[in-house]
Amino acid sequence: MARPLRVSFYGTGQVATNASGILRRREDVTVLGPFGRTQREEALRGGADVVVIATTSFLAAIADDIHDAVESGSNVITTAEEAAFPWANDAPTADRLDALARSRGVTILGAGLNPGFAFDALVLTACGVVAEVESLLVERVVDLSGFGETVLRRIGVAHSADSFEEGIRAGSVTGHVGFPQSMRVVAGRLGVEIERVDRELEPIFAEAELAASSLTVRAGETAGFRQRYAAISGGRTWFDAFFIGHIAPAAIGQQPRDSITIRGPYGGINLAATPGMNPQSGSAAIVANSVRRVVGAAPGWTTVADLPPAVPV
Ligand SMILES: NC(=O)c1ccc[n+]([C@@H]2O[C@H](COP(=O)([O-])OP(=O)(O)OC[C@H]3O[C@@H](n4cnc5c(N)ncnc54)[C@H](OP(=O)(O)O)[C@@H]3O)[C@@H](O)[C@H]2O)c1
Repeated sequence: MARPLRVSFYGTGQVATNASGILRRREDVTVLGPFGRTQREEALRGGADVVVIATTSFLAAIADDIHDAVESGSNVITTAEEAAFPWANDAPTADRLDALARSRGVTILGAGLNPGFAFDALVLTACGVVAEVESLLVERVVDLSGFGETVLRRIGVAHSADSFEEGIRAGSVTGHVGFPQSMRVVAGRLGVEIERVDRELEPIFAEAELAASSLTVRAGETAGFRQRYAAISGGRTWFDAFFIGHIAPAAIGQQPRDSITIRGPYGGINLAATPGMNPQSGSAAIVANSVRRVVGAAPGWTTVADLPPAVPV
């Protein structure tokens, strides 16, 4: 049996529920929680080997939570998309928590399917069979129907045209978060300098009423969105990322899929998965399968580029 681990979960939503369920089936893991907002201290300062923070997407909202868990001597895995490469958002905070983790001998990792796998770890793995990388194209169509209401509204579903536009201006509608982070993880590992990351985000309106598991969208409201991120290096698009998220992809003639294309002067590769990776079960598995690789990692704030693959042990 592997070394017994205690893993605590902060957040009682989908990811925490699903990932803790996976770990409960492992004999060598004791699961604590999932804990809600009123049990913050117990979740973060309970002395677990690993604290999983699965609450929000944003570094600013979880920085204090990471701090408290790390200060208490726990490794941290968080699903906050911005944590996949926190230097893209707030380098001073990232450096401060990185230094604290080093001083406590523990590791922080932003983990999940996207970011954390589809647009970064898997891309880097695929680069292994290409002699030289010229450019990258990653496309993903995701069925959003299993997401919770809070996440759906924040990423841009169930809005009128006006509230979508206003939400983007105000920052309350974000689209899917994490593409610049994935791009910087890949760029860092390949030694590429990114000059800037451009974003396009456009709504997709429902033509008829459509139901997701957590809400219903009326005709004329947003049922999804198209997103493109382009990382510019050397004055050209080096990494192109396309994402369509929709609560009923078939209604717009799409089906969930993942595709990674790597182009190079000496040949490239295309990896395609149809149907694409499931956002709920995939993210939960990656989180659960990251527990041991985080415990075994060098101290500090790490990224998936510096870790071995996540595997179910
Ligand atoms: N990297 C990835 O691939 C990946 C994958 C999956 C999810 N995520 C992200 O991870 C986060 C959690 O996902 P989910 O699907 O589990 O969401 P969810 O079902 O909405 O659950 C979120 C949980 O966190 C709690 N929470 C929200 N904000 C909080 C805060 N500021 N402080 C303390 N607790 C807070 C919620 O409590 P209440 O119910 O009281 O609000 C709820 O228990 C989301 O931001 C999502 O975008 C990332």
